[in-house]
Amino acid sequence: MNGNVRPESMERITTEELAQKFIDEQIEQLKKQIGNKKVLLALSGGVDSSVVAALLIKAVGQQLVCVHVNHGLLRKGEPEQVIEVFRGQMNANLVYVDAVDRFLDKLAGVSDPEQKRKIIGAEFIRVFEEEARKQDGIEFLAQGTIYPDILESDGVKAHHNVGGLPEDLQFELVEPLKLLFKDEVRVVGKALGLPDNMVYRQPFPGPGLGVRCLGAITRDRLEAVRESDAILREEFSKNGLEGKVWQYFTAIPDLRSVGVKDGKRTFAYPVIIRAVNTKDAMTATVEDIPFALLQHITQRITTEVENVNRVLYDLTPKPSGTIEWE
Ligand code: XMP
Repeated sequence: MNGNVRPESMERITTEELAQKFIDEQIEQLKKQIGNKKVLLALSGGVDSSVVAALLIKAVGQQLVCVHVNHGLLRKGEPEQVIEVFRGQMNANLVYVDAVDRFLDKLAGVSDPEQKRKIIGAEFIRVFEEEARKQDGIEFLAQGTIYPDILESDGVKAHHNVGGLPEDLQFELVEPLKLLFKDEVRVVGKALGLPDNMVYRQPFPGPGLGVRCLGAITRDRLEAVRESDAILREEFSKNGLEGKVWQYFTAIPDLRSVGVKDGKRTFAYPVIIRAVNTKDAMTATVEDIPFALLQHITQRITTEVENVNRVLYDLTPKPSGTIEWE
C-alpha cells in the first residue's frame, strides 16, 4: 500500500482520546524507525512543525535536534515563544539561530515580491544546511508535511512555505503527520500539551512579515508592521475576534504621507489592516469589524507605533484583491 494515501478506514481524529491513540501509535513507530539515531527538524513555531517537534520529543527526546531560524520576519513574540515552550517547558534540544542581519542584508533594495520570496526561501535552506553540517550523526530529517500538502499536486508546502531539504544532505524523511488534516493536527497538538495560541493560530505565510512590509524591506517599516500587527492581534483577542476571523494582520506600504502630531507636521507611513474570512483561501470576504473597535485600534497604532501617522482598513474581498498584498 502507498504510505501517502490515507486509508478509507482511518478514523477522523476529533477527540482527545483518539488523539492520544494516534500519539501512542506514532511514538511506537517513531522509536522503531529512528532507534538511537539523531533527527533534525526546522522548527518555525507554526502548528505543523510544533506538533512534529512535540511528538518527536516524546518519542526520542534529546535525539531530536530542533533548529529555529529567526529570519527577522517573524511576528512579535514568536521566537521567544518557541524558546519558552520547547526549551523551557519541553526540555528540547533546540538550536536558536539569529539570522536577522543576514536575511535583511540579502533583501536590502529588493522590491519584487517573488524575488523576495525566492531570497527568503534560498537563504533559509542555506542557514539550515549550515546548522545541519555542524551536527554530528544526523540520519533523519523530520518535516511537518500534512495530508493537504500531499493531495495538492503542486506541493503547496514546498512552494509556499520557507524551507526544504538541503539537496546534497542525504537524510531519511520522518513525516508523522502526513496523513492528517489540519484540524486533526490541532487536536493532536492540544493533546500533546502545546499552548492554544500555538495550536489554533491563524495561518502565517512562510516568508512572514517579508511580504507585509511592501516593496523593498527597511528596518523602520519592518518594526512598524511588527508592532502594529501585535496591537491588532491583542485587540482582536480582547474583543472576541480571535478564532472568529480566519486571518488578520497589518501591512505597510512603501509610501509616506503628511500628517500632524503634537502640533507638528509629520511625514510618515500608513498601516493597512486586513481581516478576512474564507474556507479555502481561494476566495475571501472582509470581516465587518465594529467601527468603534477600528477607531480604537487606529488610535493605538498611531500613538504607539513609531513612523506611522495613518491607519487604513482594506475593504476588498478576494477577488479582486488577494489576501496578502504581495
Ligand atoms: P493570497 O494572498 O494568495 O493568500 O490570497 C492565500 C493564503 O496563502 C497565504 N500565503 C502564503 N503562505 N507562503 C505561505 O506559506 C507564501 O508565500 C504565501 N503567500 C500567501 C496567505 O497568508 C493566505 O493565507
